[in-house]
Amino acid sequence: MKARLIQIRLEAEGVHAYRFEPLPGETLPPFEAGAHVNVTLGDGITRSYSLLNDPADPSFYEIAVHLSPTSRGGSRYIHEHWHVGLVVDMTDPSNNFPLDETAAHSVMIAGGIGITPLLSMIDRLDAIGRPWELHYVAQSPERAAFVRHLSGRDNVHVQFDGIEGGQPLDLRGVVEAAPADAHLYCCGPQGMLDAYKGFAAGRPKGHVHLEYFTADTQIATEGGFVVELAKSGKSFEIKEGDRILDVLLDNGVDVPFACSEGTCGTCETRVIEGTPDHRDFFLTDDERASGEMMMVCCSGCKSDKLVLDL
Ligand code: FES
Repeated sequence: MKARLIQIRLEAEGVHAYRFEPLPGETLPPFEAGAHVNVTLGDGITRSYSLLNDPADPSFYEIAVHLSPTSRGGSRYIHEHWHVGLVVDMTDPSNNFPLDETAAHSVMIAGGIGITPLLSMIDRLDAIGRPWELHYVAQSPERAAFVRHLSGRDNVHVQFDGIEGGQPLDLRGVVEAAPADAHLYCCGPQGMLDAYKGFAAGRPKGHVHLEYFTADTQIATEGGFVVELAKSGKSFEIKEGDRILDVLLDNGVDVPFACSEGTCGTCETRVIEGTPDHRDFFLTDDERASGEMMMVCCSGCKSDKLVLDL
């Protein structure tokens, strides 16, 4: 679908918020807390951004983009080329980070721009009268996006870990202090998420939720191997410059996918034979080491042949 960019707002150092409205005569689809859209950029690449506004009012969408110093082109393109009035192609909202609305208590943990999906969740929890708490760490007050939106609430704890006298977030302490039946949500950089997964390992799996806010995926395009599909018996040569997902889709193989950059887990595929070259952010270290599953949108192969359960 298409939506018109109607406002660009400086939210924090390096962070712009972008507000979209539907084109005349159209409406934007409703969305759930935690949902994202994939926007198409000028050079055809797509990027996922969380919808951060209150899902109760889908008359507009808002996303926020942090200009990453290591940008592969996505955030840099948006910061440099998007302007008010631009019509942007985007997908309907989808949700890889859904909120459990039945939770007795929700603990939100955000690192930097990872605050964005949690904002719509907080609005939703308020709307349905469910208790929550937020632990938000940013480098400095200048870099803490949406902090004004959150200030003045007892259940919001903001910390700065990059200033003199600042303090790192006690992630272990936050996770351990959460009530046993709480649902936990974390969005932030990879190191934070890895630590979070470790600290929360003893909790019921369905209560521990996470989302990577950035994908700096180095998609495997080295090629030089064959992909064989165990169920159909088809096989395809993956040449240099190809990625597995594109080759499968081009040949009519029905593979579910969403983010295309190794963060959502939608394209997770069982490996029957071969050694995957993992490039995703979704699998745990143990899962990667086992070699049993892989993300075909971004990962490649270290052996000559990969047999997939497709
Ligand atoms: S499509 Fe999202 S991880 Fe592959």
